[in-house]
Amino acid sequence: MALQDKDRIFTNIYGIHDKSLKGAMKRGHWSGTKDFIKKGPDWIVDQVKASGLRGRGGAGFPTGLKWSFMPKPERSDGRPSYLVINADESEPGTCKDRDIMRHDPHTLIEGCLIAGCAMNANACYIYVRGEYIREREALQAAIDECYDAKLLGKNNKNGWDFDLYVHHGAGAYICGEETALLESLEGKKGQPRLKPPFPANVGLYGCPTTVNNVESVAVVPTILRRSPEWFAGFGAERNAGTKLFCISGHVERPCTVEEEMSIPFKELIERHCGGILGGWDNLLAVIPGGSSVRCVPGADMVDCAMDFDSLSALKSGLGTAAVIVMNKETDIIRAIARLAYFYKHESCGQCTPCREGTGWMWRVLTRMAEGRAQKKEIDMLMEVTKQVEGHTICALGDAAAWPIQGLITHFRHEIEARIDSYSARSDAEGAVTDKVLEAAE
Ligand SMILES: Cc1cc2nc3c(=O)[nH]c(=O)nc-3n(C[C@H](O)[C@H](O)[C@H](O)COP(=O)(O)O)c2cc1C
Ligand code: SF4
Repeated sequence: MALQDKDRIFTNIYGIHDKSLKGAMKRGHWSGTKDFIKKGPDWIVDQVKASGLRGRGGAGFPTGLKWSFMPKPERSDGRPSYLVINADESEPGTCKDRDIMRHDPHTLIEGCLIAGCAMNANACYIYVRGEYIREREALQAAIDECYDAKLLGKNNKNGWDFDLYVHHGAGAYICGEETALLESLEGKKGQPRLKPPFPANVGLYGCPTTVNNVESVAVVPTILRRSPEWFAGFGAERNAGTKLFCISGHVERPCTVEEEMSIPFKELIERHCGGILGGWDNLLAVIPGGSSVRCVPGADMVDCAMDFDSLSALKSGLGTAAVIVMNKETDIIRAIARLAYFYKHESCGQCTPCREGTGWMWRVLTRMAEGRAQKKEIDMLMEVTKQVEGHTICALGDAAAWPIQGLITHFRHEIEARIDSYSARSDAEGAVTDKVLEAAE
């Protein structure tokens, strides 16, 4: 059964209603906030744990558990704690946090206050993607309204002193990685830090910090209002809740939609996107979780439940739930080569396997997209992805390797056919010699 309107957390995700504080309050936001704060940090953390909420930024780490890693006030060594919201949203295909910020910002602001109280943080920074100018303006306007209404700031009506600052990034994908984000927030070059220490021990300005995705925090007030059991009632076990899916590519009507977690892929597409361009027989492949996960052949996707565990069983992932649909008109080798270019461009350059490997993989894949390669290079390319994967400071290395692994695993025949067709043409025209190919290796 589809998610009903009464169970939607984001009641203004398309911006058709009044997004002001007054409008948000009319839709039920900012109601009972003071009472939740009165119940205290332990109660809030327990509720979030019980809801089964897993982080919406890509990795799916349990949110309540993450919050419990922050030092309790009685154990504090005097350093302040910080909450940092990751609104960098640069994963290709992902466009959900921007809709929260520009159309439903009070869900996030109220969530920040509650999460701040849960982690003993009196200050929060929201790090907004560089390109999101209108989103930042909308968010700032909503924050200003809250200060005017004394919902935020010192001695506010909710009983938890809390300041909220919006920081605008400069447009680098790597600044979405939580420790690069912290470096950037501190005014330094956005390069990931080695872990440990983890941010909960040494984060922003060397203080205990939790970094959370926009959606992870924006859903919390409604979870407290409706109950953790209500939230846990959606989706399969260990995959609780409602979820914003961003569906793009070869569907009749691309959209961002809040649905029940674990909805089968076909139902998601039929119900909200009007089907696949050219029909279901025309479906080639899907990248189900933003560009950093492995693609899945269409036939395997059709009945797959859209959640963390089902997609990882297919050796892919829910990631950011940015569902990129490709029909049979897609040149999938070129498509993945384009993603390889993205990762090469966004690598911060600290680790040799990522800095050198992303460029190498992109160059080889670009030749493969033309067919200008040797078949033995396919295994060589796979081997290089394995040397990058798991051998870097941050997960950008894995993110660069996985799409290529997905391509080779599922579409090796396409690469081989492309090489055959290029060789046949070049044999006929005498355009390419073995020497050229060996030099290119
Ligand atoms: C290269 C890279 C880019 C990332 N970009 C984002 C991003 O734009 N937004 C986001 O929320 N998380 C992003 N993440 C994940 C964050 O590091 C972090 O796991 C997340 O913000 C945690 O929030 P959550 O627990 O609420 O999911 C990125 C990770 C990597 C490795
Ligand atoms: S994996 Fe890549 S992006 Fe991440 S720290 Fe290393 S070089 Fe930088």
